Amino acid sequence: MKRSRLVAGNWKMHGSRAANAALLDAISRAGTVGGGAECAVCVPYPYLQQASERLAGTAVALGAQNVSEHAQGAYTGEVSAAMLLDFGCRYVIVGHSERRQLYGESDGQVAAKFAAARKAGIAPILCVGETLQEREAGRTEEVVGRQLQAVLDVNDFGNAVVAYEPVWAIGTGRNATPEQAQAVHAFLRAKVPQGTRILYGGSMKPANAAKLLAMPDIDGGLIGGASLVADDFIAILHAAGAKVTT
Ligand code: PGA
Repeated sequence: MKRSRLVAGNWKMHGSRAANAALLDAISRAGTVGGGAECAVCVPYPYLQQASERLAGTAVALGAQNVSEHAQGAYTGEVSAAMLLDFGCRYVIVGHSERRQLYGESDGQVAAKFAAARKAGIAPILCVGETLQEREAGRTEEVVGRQLQAVLDVNDFGNAVVAYEPVWAIGTGRNATPEQAQAVHAFLRAKVPQGTRILYGGSMKPANAAKLLAMPDIDGGLIGGASLVADDFIAILHAAGAKVTT
């Protein structure tokens, strides 16, 4: 079964109204219609309005980087899936390693966030990945398998996306080799419904994207640093087979 590709930018906590305007316009001008690759940008909450306005009528989908597991209520500082839907979000990242490590999100909480997104009709991009220590201890499959299973146990997977993001490759400039990534993707593939897209994330750049994306079980990328540089992000889209015009 041929899976369409997805290249999603994870802006993390970067941006300003002026910088976003230039970046969003450059990405949407490049266009991503056809070629079997879809493009999305996951922006910080305060910029959802700006991004939804600027991306209206373009082929670039909007996403967020986190979501509350609760539907509504007295949860100061939280943002619900219904609110994200209100801004036209099609995707939301859940369980990013920075959320797990810096904000203590547990597998159970990630599964609840995944469920909240699915209930609202937003496709979760579920991040899984091992630390360097876990990899060196030969525990990669155990760790990513546990992270994925926690979600599978309580959720219907639907149109959700998985992102394999080895923690040691994120923001380090040290990407997993295509073979290392492919091995984990194949492991994950066996556990998710047919047709599920599995993205690779962790220092994906124009220079390594084509080789990673050539692997049979790598269906796209979740791009951090390189998604903030229009030319780099567009080059990765191009490597994913998107029809881009520059
Ligand atoms: P990076 O981040 O591309 O900057 O390594 C990827 C991510 O954390 O999603």
